[in-house]
Amino acid sequence: MQLVKPIVKRCLPYELINALWWLLRPEPSNTLGFWRLLLLKRYPFRFLVQLRLLYLELTRKPVFLAVSEEERKGFDRNFRYRHRFGRQRVERWLRVCAASNKSFRDSRLLIIGPRNEAELILAWLHGFRWDNIFAIDLFSVSPKIAVMNAERMDFPDDSFDIVVACAVLPYIPNASDALREMARICRPGGILLLRNSYYERLPNPYFSRPMDRYLGSMEAYLDYVFFREKEPIEIDLRKAGIADSGTAPVLVEYAGVYIKKQPKEGVAKC
Ligand SMILES: C[S@@+](CC[C@H](N)C(=O)[O-])C[C@H]1O[C@@H](n2cnc3c(N)ncnc32)[C@H](O)[C@@H]1O
Repeated sequence: MQLVKPIVKRCLPYELINALWWLLRPEPSNTLGFWRLLLLKRYPFRFLVQLRLLYLELTRKPVFLAVSEEERKGFDRNFRYRHRFGRQRVERWLRVCAASNKSFRDSRLLIIGPRNEAELILAWLHGFRWDNIFAIDLFSVSPKIAVMNAERMDFPDDSFDIVVACAVLPYIPNASDALREMARICRPGGILLLRNSYYERLPNPYFSRPMDRYLGSMEAYLDYVFFREKEPIEIDLRKAGIADSGTAPVLVEYAGVYIKKQPKEGVAKC
């Protein structure tokens, strides 16, 4: 009892404040119900995602898309990390999306390269309807993620209100083809949400395409860039699998872009 009392005394106020914060904090879509807010909390969310991923791994065989030698490097790396998920960066695109005042509930959303269902579940918890969420990747263990290459998508023109590629463009050798495809399947007035990450100093082709070059190649399709952010961070090179030790500055960039149609001729390649 002697030990328990001070622990309760210290932890209870913290837990209470924490619970209040989670219930009251502004979310990307601020019309979320109590259960969604609760499931969005760190541990319930992790539990939900891990349970679903485990179920899929046990019940389904992964399906792969054949990729070229050039694409192999990024592909192998991503399949090896297929259970990983960057919640923070996904919540950032949701915030960019909320900044556009588009209704989450009524929008058809395409997520390109989610790696697993976690990004879809997070979008659903933040207010998108499950039936309105679509996803593609080069591999899949999920019935919700179609196996398809972003450079050549099977969707008809103007199929989606929002198209997201979060940390995907650096892995696509022909990024300008993928961007043109995204513009094609996105409705006029729809939104492309792009997130890039790259090393400025290292000659790694997967991390060396600044967002400006992407957007430059898209100029004819863009209506209005409503969000742009550059955020330099230090990354651990060993963890990133780039070098044995050391750190390097990385620019993480987000962009939110409205799409217009009838592109002009002669769009530049990036
Ligand atoms: C770094 S992961 C990003 C995962 C997730 N979006 C996130 O932010 O945590 C990149 C994903 O893009 C997928 N990808 C790479 N090239 C692709 C392509 N051409 N078409 C569709 N998906 C692709 C990879 O398979 C991988 O799942």
